[in-house]
Amino acid sequence: MLTPASDSSIAAAAALLRDGECVAFPTETVYGLGADATNARAVARIFSIKQRPSFDPLIVHVADAAAIAEFATDVPPLARALADALWPGPVTIVLPKRDVIPDIVTAGLPSVALRVPDHPVALALIRRASRPIAAPSANPFGYVSPTCAEHVESHLGGLVPLILDGGPCRVGLESTIVSFSSGMPTLLRQGGVPQEVIEDIVGPLVVLDRDGPIQAPGHLPSHYAPRVPLSVITAAAVVPVVDRHHAALLSIGPISNSAEFERVVILSPTGDLEESAANLFAAMRDLDAAGVAHIYAIAPPLRGIGRAIADRLQRAASRDKL
Ligand code: TXA
Ligand code: MG
Repeated sequence: MLTPASDSSIAAAAALLRDGECVAFPTETVYGLGADATNARAVARIFSIKQRPSFDPLIVHVADAAAIAEFATDVPPLARALADALWPGPVTIVLPKRDVIPDIVTAGLPSVALRVPDHPVALALIRRASRPIAAPSANPFGYVSPTCAEHVESHLGGLVPLILDGGPCRVGLESTIVSFSSGMPTLLRQGGVPQEVIEDIVGPLVVLDRDGPIQAPGHLPSHYAPRVPLSVITAAAVVPVVDRHHAALLSIGPISNSAEFERVVILSPTGDLEESAANLFAAMRDLDAAGVAHIYAIAPPLRGIGRAIADRLQRAASRDKL
C-alpha cells in the first residue's frame, strides 16, 4: 500500500519494522526497502522480495553519527571526520562490524556499510523504530533504482505491506561508498557526494578499477539497467541516421544533431549535472515504457556528480555482457 508519509503512517511503518516486516521509504538518494538490521529473518525477506543474491551486502541506515560506535569496531579518525562533515547525507562508510549486525546483512563480510540519510521521513522512521534499518534500493535486483514512490509500487507493490510516499528523491542517484575496512580509504561506488568533496576531507582515495576484481559483490558490471539496450556515446553525431529510428537520445543538456531520433530526452535544460542526476533514473524508466529499441546516452563530463552519472550509464550499458 502506498501512503503519504505522515506522523501516523511513519508510526505504522515503524511498528511493522519492529514486527519483522519490510517497508519502503524515501531517502534523499533513492527509495529504500527496509527491515530491522538486527533481525536476520526480517533481512532475509528483503533478499527474497528483491530477488537479490545473498552475496550482495546491504547498507545499514542509522539516525546519527553516534551510532557508528554501536555497530562498528575500529573507527579511524578519517572515517569519523567524513561522517562529521557529510552526515546526514549521501555517503556510506564501510567499517569493521560488531556482532549485533547479523551476517546476512553483510553477506558474511567482516565489515558493515553505514549511512545517515538526509531525509526527514527516513530519519523519523529510524528514530521511531529505534532500530538500525538495513535497506537496499527498493527495486528488483539489477533494475533501475526508484526515485519516487510510484516506481516502488510498480515493481514491488504487491510484495511490500507499506510504501511511505515522501515525493521525488532530491539527489536521484545512490550514495557514494567509501571503505575504511582495510587500510587506505577506498572508493567502492561513485554516488551522490562527488569524489572531489570526499578527497578534500580524507585525502586521495584508492579508486577501484571497474574492470578489476569485484571487491564488493554488489559492484557487478551490470546494474541499474533498463530492459532496453543502452550504449554510451561521445556525441550524437556518431549514431548513423539509419540507427536513429526507434532509438532514443539521452543527453545531460540541450543538443544539436538530434534529428531522426524517435525520442530525445534532455535531463536538464541548462545542462546542470545535479538536476540531470535527479532525473536520470526516471528517464530510463520512461524510455523502457516508451518501447524504443535502443537508448544512446551521451557521456557526461567526469566532474562532480557527473562521475556517478557516467558510472550508472556504464553499468546500464553492460547489461548484455553478463
Ligand atoms: O543511496 C543509497 O545508498 C541507497 C539508499 C536506499 O540508502 N541504498 C543502496 O543500496 O543503494 P544497494 O543495496 O542498492 O547498494 C548497496 C551497495 C552494494 O553495492 C553493496 O555491495 C555495498 O553497498 N555494500 C554494502 N555493504 C558492504 C560492505 N560491508 N562492504 C562493501 N560494500 C558493501
Ligand atoms: Mg541497488
